[in-house]
Amino acid sequence: MITGNGITRTFKQRGGVLGSREVPALRGVDFAIGRGGAVSFIGESGCGKTTLGRILAGLETYDSGDLVINGTSMSGLSHRRRQPYFRAIQLIHQDPYSALNPTRTIHQTLAAPLALRAGQTGRPRSWTDERAEELLALVGLDPGYVLPRYPHQLSGGMRQRVVIARALTVDPEMLVADEAVSMIDVSMRLGILALLKDLRERLGVSVLFITHDIATARYIGEGGEVYVLYRGQVVEQGPTETIIADPVHPYTQSLLSAIPVLHGLERPGAERVVPVEAAGGGQAGAGCLFADRCPFSTERCRSETPVLGRDGDTVQRHACFHPRRRSVIPLGVGA
Ligand SMILES: Nc1ncnc2c1ncn2[C@@H]1O[C@H](COP(=O)(O)OP(=O)(O)OP(=O)(O)O)[C@@H](O)[C@H]1O
Ligand code: SF4
Ligand SMILES: [Mg+2]
Repeated sequence: MITGNGITRTFKQRGGVLGSREVPALRGVDFAIGRGGAVSFIGESGCGKTTLGRILAGLETYDSGDLVINGTSMSGLSHRRRQPYFRAIQLIHQDPYSALNPTRTIHQTLAAPLALRAGQTGRPRSWTDERAEELLALVGLDPGYVLPRYPHQLSGGMRQRVVIARALTVDPEMLVADEAVSMIDVSMRLGILALLKDLRERLGVSVLFITHDIATARYIGEGGEVYVLYRGQVVEQGPTETIIADPVHPYTQSLLSAIPVLHGLERPGAERVVPVEAAGGGQAGAGCLFADRCPFSTERCRSETPVLGRDGDTVQRHACFHPRRRSVIPLGVGA
């Protein structure tokens, strides 16, 4: 089980004449991901998704809150003592082109971490070649074809499969897939999503899926949970099916309004939620973070801060003073 309690991260950005400014990338995010689970973090660009994924993989620090990996808090541990815990969480980058060393064959790419693994687990050196073939087959590649080749000789989809195979060399508990299909040819995306789903079912590895695309979250997250992030805060969270079919937060509704109608899957509803143009700069201090764009904001929304919680009749948790089921109408294709 991997849990985050009140994870906060603020970056200092240096900006020209205005000097430096603080950017809160994560504002007290709570989450829990069990073994074999599927959790999706969705939200628009800049809402903090990658920051969260990097914190989980041990590549970024947090300012406050706590990250607990299988019962052990990371907060009190030195950098060195955290490393074995973070090995359980492997990040799959967005860009399979830069993730692999272009001067190494796939065999060399997999042999290095596998040799380390053989040493750690007391296996003979010969095991590494067997395991490399096994892992490539597991991710749907032909080892005989792929092993002697360099990354540039493979397609984007094949490279992403190699990246996933490399992540599996350390027997991880969780894969963090950060927009893992966004830079891959559309024709190969579904294959990669199906692979992640398959690994979840076959190996019991959990998947944290980071995306701005709610439709892919639905595909990967069947039976899982969705966290909707807005400017570093979770604004709605619950079972994937509930969040997609029955969102109550206006921001989630606006995300759903923006996806194209998939004929036969989406039934057009009665309403669309279109965020209004932000007045500028966003707001500081008290109030809902979405108030300057929300079509339903009231005086209360601008003066009080809604906290994530559950009210009487919702399955999901939400941070909104005026939650309401709206039969959201997705955008028609070409509209
Ligand atoms: N190393 C950094 N230094 C300064 N600011 C940063 C740094 N990393 C992220 N940020 C800022 O933190 C905020 C969240 O960034 P993050 O990359 O986590 O968003 P994201 O949701 O992954 O966006 P995208 O969908 O575009 O990938 C942004 O405002 C970003 O500019
Ligand atoms: S709290 Fe108010 S401003 Fe915020 S999302 Fe709900 S209705 Fe909109
Ligand atoms: Mg990102």
